[in-house]
Amino acid sequence: MDDLKKHTTKDGSLSLYSLFYEEGFHDKDGALRESTAKYLLPAQLEQFSNTEKIVILDVCMGLGYNTGCILEKLIQSNIKIEWHGLEIDQRPLKLALNEKTFQRIWSPKILHFFNCINKSGKWSEGFNEGTIHWGDARQKIYEIQDYIRFDLILLDPFSPQKCPELWSEEFISLLTKRLSFEGRLITYSTAASIRASFIRAGLKIYSIVPSVDDQNKWSAGTVAMRKGIERPFISKNCQFKDLSTREVEHLATRSSIPYRDPTGRGNSKEIISTRELEQSKSQLKYTSSWRKRWNTAQKQ
Ligand SMILES: C[S@@+](CC[C@H](N)C(=O)[O-])C[C@H]1O[C@@H](n2cnc3c(N)ncnc32)[C@H](O)[C@@H]1O
Repeated sequence: MDDLKKHTTKDGSLSLYSLFYEEGFHDKDGALRESTAKYLLPAQLEQFSNTEKIVILDVCMGLGYNTGCILEKLIQSNIKIEWHGLEIDQRPLKLALNEKTFQRIWSPKILHFFNCINKSGKWSEGFNEGTIHWGDARQKIYEIQDYIRFDLILLDPFSPQKCPELWSEEFISLLTKRLSFEGRLITYSTAASIRASFIRAGLKIYSIVPSVDDQNKWSAGTVAMRKGIERPFISKNCQFKDLSTREVEHLATRSSIPYRDPTGRGNSKEIISTRELEQSKSQLKYTSSWRKRWNTAQKQ
């Protein structure tokens, strides 16, 4: 457990820092707060109020905050839930379940869900069911039957520079194929490379509006969905919006060059260095000129 360090975030919720990835699992401002703002609200669960069943995929479950927030709401409705999780490390959830601060956040039903997943990898309660697929998400996604389509995909790996293998063009294309017709893929990432991969996979992308406390940020994440079906679903109570000019211009810079992992087994060093080489040969604008232009524009 040595490479995982526990700490309490500003909203009082437990999080971890990975010495291996040299990155925290959540925003310092709050693990629970981040899941609520970047995953629960953009999911707009009210859109499923007339649906019989919702199918969810949590990519990088970690301590389980993203899933926990969403299940907490859904479990109060009559919607049938099918849940799948992808996660390489069993320790974050185990560690969280041993902490009172974590246990206190959740209702008994959600704690039961976490305990079942932790103990047996499976959950079932009434019509609801869930399975975690422990291991590398790039391979374990194939354990999920091919016909299953996800209404919500929660994509929450470490940052692209630390864990490029889960942000590759190929993995994003794989996730896109598993998205239901009206489904949405939600991530905290605002990286141009990731957004450009979503677009190339045929998705329309939106920018998650930062919460009132985060008004200095230009975006809090990305929601991607299939083209053509999106409008009616995002009209009310909008937590995301079309990309601003600044964000669109970001996609025309070298930052938009994707992470490539054609074998689905590449290691992070290889993936990063291949991208750096591609960036160095690119005709696209330097990101520094985009940054300069927008920093200047903001100051005026
Ligand atoms: C930012 S944390 C996720 C936080 C989580 N969503 C939560 O609410 O606590 C990233 C997670 O990705 C997992 N991970 C790293 N590489 C992975 C891989 N190849 N396949 C699946 N999970 C992976 C890590 O073990 C870690 O739990």
